Amino acid sequence: MVTRLDKVVYQASQRLRVSWYGAQKWASGWFSETPMVPPRVRLAMPHRTRILRDFEALLTRDWRNIEEGIYCRPETMVDGPMEALRKARLFFADLPRVEARRRADANDEVFRITPRGRYPRYYLQNFHYQTDGYLSRRSAELYDHQVEVLFGGGADAMRRQALVPLRRLLGDIGVRRARLLDLACGTGRFLREVKRNYPKLAVTGLDLSGFYLDAARAHLARWSGVSLVEAPAESVPLPASGTDIITCIFLFHELPPKLRHQVVAEMARLLRPGGAVILVDSLQRGDAPDYDSLIDYFPRAFHEPYYRGYANEDLTALFAKAGLTLEEAGLAYLAKVMVFRKSGARAHASVGGSQGMRATSMPSSARSRASSSVASPKMPRALASP
Ligand SMILES: C[S@@+](CC[C@H](N)C(=O)[O-])C[C@H]1O[C@@H](n2cnc3c(N)ncnc32)[C@H](O)[C@@H]1O
Repeated sequence: MVTRLDKVVYQASQRLRVSWYGAQKWASGWFSETPMVPPRVRLAMPHRTRILRDFEALLTRDWRNIEEGIYCRPETMVDGPMEALRKARLFFADLPRVEARRRADANDEVFRITPRGRYPRYYLQNFHYQTDGYLSRRSAELYDHQVEVLFGGGADAMRRQALVPLRRLLGDIGVRRARLLDLACGTGRFLREVKRNYPKLAVTGLDLSGFYLDAARAHLARWSGVSLVEAPAESVPLPASGTDIITCIFLFHELPPKLRHQVVAEMARLLRPGGAVILVDSLQRGDAPDYDSLIDYFPRAFHEPYYRGYANEDLTALFAKAGLTLEEAGLAYLAKVMVFRKSGARAHASVGGSQGMRATSMPSSARSRASSSVASPKMPRALASP
């Protein structure tokens, strides 16, 4: 039962988060030399008030999901206040290095220092110009903080929208019977939310970075039924047809096109008939046309070499080729949430209802255009306020 106190605590903690990370975003602007944005692109950028309104809409929906019992109220702070301060200090100490890389477009430091053969070549880049790429303890320690600063405190709320379809899918399968795999689990940020909501659910987190998996191990230490695997998402050392639900958050925009195909094929191999993929990733071009300029700008400011290709990829067709059919899709601020189903015996989850993300039938021919969470059947119109 959600009480008034829960609402007060939720609102206060979200305000605190937004102020905390928003202030750091603003302050980090002083260190940044924003890459030249052509005036045509700058003029077409969404207005700040529009972005703030959509962010507010995400938080409103997040609260509604909590109120409706779809998932529990998030932790007020994942890190305690001293740890939050320490991370902020580390973040600002690292910022000049990130900025130097940005200015020089230097993105191969991690390639130069990593012995050959252990990782795929594309992986050995300083994605986001971050120090050590994904390959150090320091990077794993800073990553979540950096992402929250980038999204002004909204990253966890976007990830949480994956819990909406997850609840429906688990309702069909049963929490104790289901097997969930989080592909590219990073530091375990999403799995931690999953375990807070479903402590009895058996979960596996997979990532290529042993350093990030160490952080995930620490974040998930209080739960049993967690296994962590260091392996590539395109070649997962798990049996075929043994997984009910695959979640995959903020990976696809970082994959080269060929890898995107391979990872989808691997998902199809791993899923049981009737199993499903819940994909959360960046908006794509055309999902919310007002944001297209921001999508064009993003890979210029951050080292995101495959983002442009991702932004134009027809995900519906990509997954369909592997036998995974788009079942529902919705936007969540700067992210989109999509559910793909492998055909087979398991009953379909019922979609619709008053949850944060509603089902919409997608034109199978067209590139996937996600609908707003509050889409009327005629949608797709993106990012309407709730
Ligand atoms: C942008 S982060 C997202 C992490 C996490 N899902 C989240 O929500 O924060 C991308 C993650 O994908 C991992 N990664 C990238 N390519 C991979 C691959 N081919 N196989 C497994 N993990 C990969 C990276 O190590 C990193 O942890």
